[in-house]
Amino acid sequence: MSVQLDYFADGVGTAGKNLSHFAREPFASAALAASEGSAGVYAQGIVDVRWRQHIACWAAKNGLGLEGDFVECGVNTGLMAMAVCKFLNIDKTDKKFYLFDTYEGIPIEQLHVSEVKLAESHNKLYYTNVYGKAKENFRPYKNTVMVKGILPATLSEVNIEKVAYLSIDLNQVFAEKAVIEALWDKLSVGAMVLIDDYGFMGHDLQHKMWNEFAVKHDKYIASLPTGQGLIIK
Ligand SMILES: C[S@@+](CC[C@H](N)C(=O)[O-])C[C@H]1O[C@@H](n2cnc3c(N)ncnc32)[C@H](O)[C@@H]1O
Repeated sequence: MSVQLDYFADGVGTAGKNLSHFAREPFASAALAASEGSAGVYAQGIVDVRWRQHIACWAAKNGLGLEGDFVECGVNTGLMAMAVCKFLNIDKTDKKFYLFDTYEGIPIEQLHVSEVKLAESHNKLYYTNVYGKAKENFRPYKNTVMVKGILPATLSEVNIEKVAYLSIDLNQVFAEKAVIEALWDKLSVGAMVLIDDYGFMGHDLQHKMWNEFAVKHDKYIASLPTGQGLIIK
């Protein structure tokens, strides 16, 4: 059987690597369903973010063996979270998956002045009012809990005692800092914190904040070629 070796998408390029994990089930169907669930939202149509989805699925699966629920802060239409739900068959697990977002874009009033331009352009292009679309995407998954509104205040709207997987993708430093400070003590030892924007161009304030946070907690962030950062509690 021939194996895909080369890949270039989402700013990641590989040559001569065994990429059969993309074709294997249940990942292949999960990634495709999540990308199809965002069709029409991203200008490029169906987006190929499989490498990021692969990391999210792996990090979430690690959480199945740990105490606590799953949390994603910054969901939009669910390119990552929907892939995780389908990959793990989340309703067959004992995990609730809390999905926090305004579902209508980044609150500009929370931003540092240097973040405003990029956020305004992304709000216009991608982070529009997607609540209806997101509800449709997550309706099949009864273990998901969508929490609509502005973080960090919305964290107190639900009762999260322990966290076994945390994905943070808010595209801004203020709310990401507030969220990790609120949730760090609730993370089970061994739980993954997946930081979507960590290595992406234009997200320097977040990068700096996360590095400072890691030093304070004696952690070292894995900087992945996908742009994601990864901390193990
Ligand atoms: C890059 S998108 C998330 C993409 C998502 N992780 C995916 O897999 O498709 C960033 C999201 O963060 C949300 N957001 C940013 N700041 C927020 C805040 N303070 N409270 C709630 N949502 C916020 C935006 O509405 C936007 O949907």
